[in-house]
Amino acid sequence: MDVSLNFAAVPHILKSNWRCPSNIALVKYWGKKESGTQLPANPSISLTLSDLYTETTITVNHGNVSGEPAFTFLLEGQSKLAFEPKIYSFFKKIWNDFQVIRECHLVIDSKNNFPHGTGIASSASGFGALALALCDLEQAHTGKMMDDFFNKASEVARLGSGSACRSIYAGVTSWGKCESIENSSDFYATPFQSKIDAPLNDLMDAVLIVDDSEKSVSSTEGHSLLINNPYSAARYATAAKNHSRIIDSLEKGNVRSFIQIVESEALQLHAMMMASSPYYILMRPNTLAIIEKIWAFREKEGLPVMFTLDAGANVHLLYPAEYNEVVVNFIENALLDYCKSGQYLCSFTGKGPEKIQ
Ligand code: DP6
Repeated sequence: MDVSLNFAAVPHILKSNWRCPSNIALVKYWGKKESGTQLPANPSISLTLSDLYTETTITVNHGNVSGEPAFTFLLEGQSKLAFEPKIYSFFKKIWNDFQVIRECHLVIDSKNNFPHGTGIASSASGFGALALALCDLEQAHTGKMMDDFFNKASEVARLGSGSACRSIYAGVTSWGKCESIENSSDFYATPFQSKIDAPLNDLMDAVLIVDDSEKSVSSTEGHSLLINNPYSAARYATAAKNHSRIIDSLEKGNVRSFIQIVESEALQLHAMMMASSPYYILMRPNTLAIIEKIWAFREKEGLPVMFTLDAGANVHLLYPAEYNEVVVNFIENALLDYCKSGQYLCSFTGKGPEKIQ
């Protein structure tokens, strides 16, 4: 990246450090509107995963008069050139809105608290943390406070990666224009305001690591394959219905329909991949083996445990926190053999992003 020095333009060393969690979608964002930038074809809803996060520090170290984004990106303190093109195009998208990008050279230092090579997507937490730190820095650089800081951060995060806009808020978060959520928008996410009763108000997510290799088809490519998928219109209509049904289930505490929607959404996401051209499969045999074990465990124990899937082979086992002990025993005794090197990671779902002083 071209770095042009202009120390006079930046009188103070400015810095911002934010921690932003990842999230797991219950109703999936899969497919983008054909017009506009990064707008979802249907509304989605997710749980923010408190304990799986990215921490990003951005430091302004000198001015930039090059007329284009100038930055250095470090992952765990090491230069990561492979990530720069994505960040560069993100900065281009938000260039007009961010004086700090136009006028400064930025050093971005990012780290994830989950191990590399676990197949856990870091784009939601990564762009979430980057957007929060950028908005913070913009306020410090210009001396102007944003009207709604988190709303702006969510909109900015979306331009980096769609699902990242939901990571800006704690708990259950929705993204996409819909009738059931007030102030909903395709441009930013909205936190779910209604009261959620037990046992759905305190879910945990155990991510069972089935495959830790690089995905054969990225999510961004996967979204674009929906344009020519003959089932996409039906999928978008079903997703919109599932979004409003899951809100109803949360408000009424209807566990049975909640589970049915969550699992159906996961399978539809992968069905869309299989029905794409070219077709592809991201589930692995152990993904299916784990799903069957979860179904058998639910049947036998009568507990509200369920699975969902991301765009990958790993299984997310969702369960109320009150059953943590029995579920961890189940994982240790029945599921570890299906996990790569016996790996799994548990996360609570309560907390959202935090500014680190
Ligand atoms: C399957 O947000 O990663 O996780 O907007 O192209 O960056 P881009 O895609 P991304 O897609 C996430 C898809 C998903 C479902 C979801 O999180 O809703």
